[in-house]
Amino acid sequence: MRDFLSSLGRDWADAEPNPLTALKRRLEAQGHDVIDLVGANPHEHGLVFPADRLAEIAALALPQTAVYRPHPLGQAAAREAVSAWYFRRGVAISPECVMLTPGTSLAYWYLFRVLLEAGDEVLVPHPGYPLFGDICALAGVRGRFYHLRAVDGGWRPDFEDLAFQVTRRTRAVVVVSPHNPLGTVFREDEWDALREICEQGSLALIHDEVFSEFLVDDRVLPRPREFPLSFSLNGASKMLSLPGLKLGWIAASGAHAQRAMRALEHVSDTFLPVGELAQAMAPALLAEASVPSMLAEAYRARRRVASKALRFPVVEAEGGVYLCAQVSQDEDAFCEEALQTRGVLVHPGHFYDLAGHFVFTCVAAPPTLTKGCARL
Ligand SMILES: Cc1ncc(COP(=O)(O)O)c(C=O)c1O
Repeated sequence: MRDFLSSLGRDWADAEPNPLTALKRRLEAQGHDVIDLVGANPHEHGLVFPADRLAEIAALALPQTAVYRPHPLGQAAAREAVSAWYFRRGVAISPECVMLTPGTSLAYWYLFRVLLEAGDEVLVPHPGYPLFGDICALAGVRGRFYHLRAVDGGWRPDFEDLAFQVTRRTRAVVVVSPHNPLGTVFREDEWDALREICEQGSLALIHDEVFSEFLVDDRVLPRPREFPLSFSLNGASKMLSLPGLKLGWIAASGAHAQRAMRALEHVSDTFLPVGELAQAMAPALLAEASVPSMLAEAYRARRRVASKALRFPVVEAEGGVYLCAQVSQDEDAFCEEALQTRGVLVHPGHFYDLAGHFVFTCVAAPPTLTKGCARL
């Protein structure tokens, strides 16, 4: 009988869990205590939006959802709140150029479908978060790497390489700033260099800024300006520690933004995906500046604690919630040994195309981070 699944469906249905996950499950089943340093769910480590305030915001928003009057881009009040959020950061984005999305991951898929033909290419960072392979596969487009290189303890984008990777099928470039997992934050001069490449090749820019509020110091995140067409992706998931609310957005700018918004509106109208309650809560949530500050301070403190307890050279991050450390032995063997004999789960760098490193998050509570890092 023919297989019911597509080749993509077969790949995913028949995939084995990675050996570290399998080993962790075995150890836990045998009653061993495993310190999981790769979990990125802040709620498991006490980093939550204050529950009483959340309940208050939800209660005030609920009556607004009694009568269903959807808008394909998202309710005007929510989009105005996103526009105001950018205004407070010195960026002019009109509410007409904002579309609400159920998280950032799906926003990528919307954009890939609207910007690329099947088989076209989008440039994605290497090293990088292992999110793009699956989204490109789902959208039927090809991800092609541009590289970041190690420079003076941190990692910077290599624009010679980026320009070299542009082919006649390239339609867009993804920048994750703050970068996940390296923590690189694009500087003004780097945005300028990229703008030139995007102008020359008529490439759209997709700026994933989900860690925008989590910088290691008090700097304001440098953002792209005056690209021919750029999209910023962000939402409540990371900045407000509300991943379950599924409230994200695409904010478009540039001379071609309004036309692109009409195409995106069509995609969004097909799904009408963001819950009305989440939309109605958006203005109050985005005005809650104390929560991102509280989270940023917690991540900074956790990064300091982990860096201090580790006996490995760490990559100097400028933002984000990941920590990458160099290891001289084979990284798979290191991570397996760390789990098997020291009871600590960290990821080998190659999960993120970062050879010679291991990677974990600064999300766990300080005592857990200290204990886990010391055991390593
Ligand atoms: C860089 C980056 N972008 C996007 C996402 C997904 O965000 P969302 O929860 O908004 O879909 C993640 C999740 O960890 C991420 O690390």
